[in-house]
Amino acid sequence: MEIRRLSHMPELDAATRLEATIWGASDPTPRSLLVVFAHHGGVVLGAYDGDDIVGVTVGFPGIDEIGTVYLHSHLLGVLPAYRRSRLGEALKRAQWRYAEEMGLPYIGWTYDPLMAPNAWFNLSVLGAQVQGLWENVYGSLGDAINGDLPTHRIWVAWNPTRPPLQAWGERRIMRIPPGVAELRRSDPARAREQADRFFGQMTAWWNQGFRVMGAGRDESGVWYEWSETSEKVNR
Ligand SMILES: CC(C)(COP(=O)(O)OP(=O)(O)OC[C@H]1O[C@@H](n2cnc3c(N)ncnc32)[C@H](O)[C@@H]1OP(=O)(O)O)[C@@H](O)C(=O)NCCC(=O)NCCS
Repeated sequence: MEIRRLSHMPELDAATRLEATIWGASDPTPRSLLVVFAHHGGVVLGAYDGDDIVGVTVGFPGIDEIGTVYLHSHLLGVLPAYRRSRLGEALKRAQWRYAEEMGLPYIGWTYDPLMAPNAWFNLSVLGAQVQGLWENVYGSLGDAINGDLPTHRIWVAWNPTRPPLQAWGERRIMRIPPGVAELRRSDPARAREQADRFFGQMTAWWNQGFRVMGAGRDESGVWYEWSETSEKVNR
């Protein structure tokens, strides 16, 4: 398996097709935009099994709400047959090496708080830190993963050289309900209620001054660990 930076048209084309396959999307990131990212300060990486692209990550410089320039990671995807063998992690770590080389202090991205594998991957495997909660940030995406659900998202920042946040005071746990993906397939209306309810609970705790310190998991699922913290957001 090899990870390399993409810049030529045929490989960017292949990256677009891979994105469409993974998300089942009719409107993947246009190739023209990938060309812009690849040639104007962005980082487009492909993971290859021989000649075949099996994983992709796309990032470009962004400016956060306090004026810091960072690498915004637009997407990360690995073909189902190649998952759970640390390829996603390897792509993120490669992405970080480029960000660091460019002098950027962190990589930022969003993810769906109800996606337990992603929560574990982002917060525990990588150690990204939760920076904020964004309500229905992309509107309805209509793809195979998101359907017509509201796109409530967690906004994380990741710099693997930073120490974790220090918890203090009261700690709380918020479990991700089981069967989220199944409910989304079988009953979209209830899945929407679930998404709104879970995000509403997160927002309520956030507004009480609690922050997400990380994720835990056992055989019954994944949970968020919350605590008061004496530190400002760490990025
Ligand atoms: C998220 C994604 C990129 C992870 O890729 P991956 O190559 O499987 O990731 P890794 O092998 O490096 O996984 C590291 C950890 O993430 C978690 N994880 C990732 N995918 C998982 C899954 N489908 N089910 C359960 N856990 C998963 C696991 O905890 C895994 O560690 P473990 O094997 O010790 O339990 C991949 O699942 C994917 O393409 N998903 C669809 C697109 C998506 O959701 N992208 C992210 C949002 S943009």
